[in-house]
Amino acid sequence: MWRSSGRLPALLLPRCCFALRRKGGDGLFTGRSNGSRLKVAEALLDTTAKGQEIRVQGWVRAVRAQKEITFLNINDGSSLQNLQIVAQPDLDIRGITFGSAVEIWGKLVQSPHKKQRAELLADKIRLVGACNPVNLPFKIKERHSLEYVRQFPHLRCKTNIFSSLLRIRSEASTAIHSFFKSNGFVHIHTPIITSNDCEGAGELFQIEPASKIAEKRDNTHFFDVPSFLTVSGQLHLEVMTGAFTQVYAFGPTFRAENSQTRRHLAEFYMVEAELAFTESLKDIMEVMETLFKITTSHILSNCPDDVELFHNTVAPGQKERMEQMLKNSFQVLSYTEAIDILQQSTETFKFEPKWGCDLQTEHENCLVRHCGNIPVFVVNYPYDIKPFYARDNQDHPQHTVAAVDLLVPGVGELCGGSLREERLDLLKSRLEEHGLKDTYHWYEELRQFGSVPHGGFGLGFERYLQCILGVENIKDVIPFPRFSHSCLL
Ligand code: 4AD
Ligand code: MG
Repeated sequence: MWRSSGRLPALLLPRCCFALRRKGGDGLFTGRSNGSRLKVAEALLDTTAKGQEIRVQGWVRAVRAQKEITFLNINDGSSLQNLQIVAQPDLDIRGITFGSAVEIWGKLVQSPHKKQRAELLADKIRLVGACNPVNLPFKIKERHSLEYVRQFPHLRCKTNIFSSLLRIRSEASTAIHSFFKSNGFVHIHTPIITSNDCEGAGELFQIEPASKIAEKRDNTHFFDVPSFLTVSGQLHLEVMTGAFTQVYAFGPTFRAENSQTRRHLAEFYMVEAELAFTESLKDIMEVMETLFKITTSHILSNCPDDVELFHNTVAPGQKERMEQMLKNSFQVLSYTEAIDILQQSTETFKFEPKWGCDLQTEHENCLVRHCGNIPVFVVNYPYDIKPFYARDNQDHPQHTVAAVDLLVPGVGELCGGSLREERLDLLKSRLEEHGLKDTYHWYEELRQFGSVPHGGFGLGFERYLQCILGVENIKDVIPFPRFSHSCLL
């Protein structure tokens, strides 16, 4: 039986470890010789602040000089909240401005202010790196839009909104690994360089040494065969289902998409899972839904402030939309039903919905709305529009394969997957139809040595973040976006 919410306590383990660390008053990399260093998040959580000597390092987010005392707000990326520093007039704070990097020694005490538990009475402040706030593109107290901060990929981690995004992204990634680990999946590092193209999952980036490309005359290949950046780890995961019942991969994926849409990147992260001994799409759909819900619950309980910032400032109403997604069962439609719904819809589409054609983003969004803004699985796609590995349903007159896409509010397609064709005769004829018999000889061979029915899916990690946070543009949920005509830094 699939273990879902029953495994939640295991996912919470990292949090407990963090608490243990705090209790000891110090982390692993403390530099104890120089005073007990605390992260801002640890200092803020300290309920026993009784004047103990600590040291913090970070960047100044605000300076407020009053008659006698100067208040500094310090952030070190460990939380959205800043630690307030109280500096008496005898301290040298010359050169300390918004944006400068500082190290501060002092006594951690309970704060008289309701909004924060603790504050630091500074004994010594060291300016580590000066900053001229006039030249900094972000202004103190101003709220900058995601579009604005996107123009500064080398500086945007200094803004509240983007540092929140990066913490959420990190936490989501941890939750995904925990989910798979606690459900018995083995993590496989599928290759980044590959000689297969996963049958047209996307346009490929070919790779050769730079010197070879410069020489042009040389027709040989570095690996003797054309090689590419991976568009999917699926076929390599399928190899592993020859010896492991459940495997997954989570890594960078590359597609030379020439479209500059708000949901496509040339480099993105994909979570892929492959399950052996699986004969039903339902098993795959259950993993997708549980992964989505458990990961999201983990993020909500581990970075509530960061998520709230997004829900309040970027996507009002998103909190309620997310709650709906978490508390309802995802819907299921067949592709044929989906086409019927689209054809009967009163919406006007740019692309006419027709049986046998791929669903366009506008169609996906309409289907999600039709299902009450709950994620929806669309299953059993036409045979002719899916790759050779998708398992033939052998139905007629509408010939379909056991493929599934998960469509979610605000984004459209979040996951794509299928049962894989394990029947050798059917696979052989499909490969022949596609002229791929020689290339995929090894794939055919997988079906000859203890082959089992299996299937899996891929989830676009950035699209997942867009969906839960309500972020319009995929470029705002990845540290360094790569898309056609843009590879900054
Ligand atoms: O639907 P896709 O192409 O599926 C596969 O590659 C399968 N081989 C996966 C598998 O079965 N193991 O891609 C999976 C997901 C999409 O649903 C989408 O969320 C995301 O990857 N994706 C992209 N995300 C950002 N930018 C792009 N250019 C993307 N292309 C796909
Ligand atoms: Mg797809």
